[in-house]
Amino acid sequence: MPENQAIRILAIESSCDETAAAVVENGRKVLSSAIASQIDLHALYGGVVPEIASRMHVEALDPLVDQALRQANLSIEEIDAVAVTYGPGLVGALLTGVSWAKAFAYARQLPLVPVHHIEGHVSANYIAHPDLEPPFVCLVASGGHSQIVQVLDYGEYRLLGQTLDDAAGEAFDKVARVLAIPYPGGPLLDELAEQGDDRAYTFPKPHTPGKYDFSFSGLKTAVINQAHTIRRQGGEIRAADFAASFRRAVVDMLVTKSIAAALDAGATRIAVAGGVAANRLLRRELLRCAQQNGLGCFMPPVHLCTDNAMMIGSAGYYRFMRGERADLALNAQPNAKLF
Ligand code: KG4
Ligand code: ZN
Repeated sequence: MPENQAIRILAIESSCDETAAAVVENGRKVLSSAIASQIDLHALYGGVVPEIASRMHVEALDPLVDQALRQANLSIEEIDAVAVTYGPGLVGALLTGVSWAKAFAYARQLPLVPVHHIEGHVSANYIAHPDLEPPFVCLVASGGHSQIVQVLDYGEYRLLGQTLDDAAGEAFDKVARVLAIPYPGGPLLDELAEQGDDRAYTFPKPHTPGKYDFSFSGLKTAVINQAHTIRRQGGEIRAADFAASFRRAVVDMLVTKSIAAALDAGATRIAVAGGVAANRLLRRELLRCAQQNGLGCFMPPVHLCTDNAMMIGSAGYYRFMRGERADLALNAQPNAKLF
C-alpha cells in the first residue's frame, strides 16, 4: 500500500444505546458521522432495556451506514476496511453491529477490524487533537467504565487504576434518579449542579486499597440514604445544592487519582474520555489541576466523549495499520479485556 494513500475506515458502534456509523480517514479526519440515539425510548423505562436496544440497532444500522457514506460523499468501493466494536457492552447490542460488519466485510471482500470500546473512547482524543501521540495517561469514565489507562503506544495499554464497584456514570445516573431527574441523569444533574453550592451537603470520601482505584458504590449509597432521611424527616432537598455536592465528591476523586497516577507514571500529558468526560466540573478541574502540575491536558469536545463511531474509526485505523484483522468467527465479547 503506498505510504501516502488515504485509508478510509467505515466504523460501526452498537455496544449500548446509541447506534453509530462513521467514515474516518487515516485515523484522524472525520469524513462523516451518523448517530441514532435510543435515549428517549429507554427513558420510558428509567434505563437501558437490552432487548429494545438490540432491536433498535438492527433497524438503524442500514440507514445510518447509507447516511454516513452519503455524507462522506463516498461509494462503498472507496472504503478500505470495516471497523466494529466487539466489546465490552451489552451482548445483544454488540452482536447486531458485529454481525452487520461481518456480513458487509464478507460481501464486499473488505478487511474486518475488531475494536475494543475503551480503546475507542481513548482514541476520540486523536480526532480532537491531531498532534496528540502516545505516550500519555487517560482517564476513561463512562456509564460502564471508570479506569485510568496509561497509553504506552498505539494499541499498547497499561491499567493504572479502576473502579472497584460502580462506574462513575452509573453513580451519576442513580443519584439523578433520587432527584427525579429522568434517564440518563448525568448530563441533567451536571446542568443542575452548575447553580448549586457544592459545600451545602457533606458526603463520605470513600477509601480504596489501591492508590489509583475508585469506589462509587459507598458514596452513591450514602447520598441516596441521606436523601431518604431528609425526606422522612419532612425536610426538603435543595436539589441544585445536593447535585453540586455529589458532583464535587465524584469529580474530586476522579481528578485527584488521575493526576496522581499520571505524575507517578512519569507522564507529561493527561487526557480524558468517555461520557462522564462531558461533565463541566470534571473538565474545569482536570484542566486546572493538570496546569498546576505542569501536565498537558487533552479532552475531546462533548460529542466525541459520549458513544460514537468516529472514535471506533480512529482506533480501527491504528489496528488496521498494524495488520490486525478479524475473520468471520469474530464474536461479541460483553466482557472484552483491554489489558
Ligand atoms: O460513554 P457513554 O456515552 O456510554 C458508555 O460507554 O457507558 O457514557 C454514558 C454515561 C452515562 O452514565 C451518562 O449519564 C454519563 O455518561 N454522562 C455524564 C455527563 N454526560 C454524560 N455524567 C456526568 N456529567 C455529564 N455532563
Ligand atoms: Zn462508551
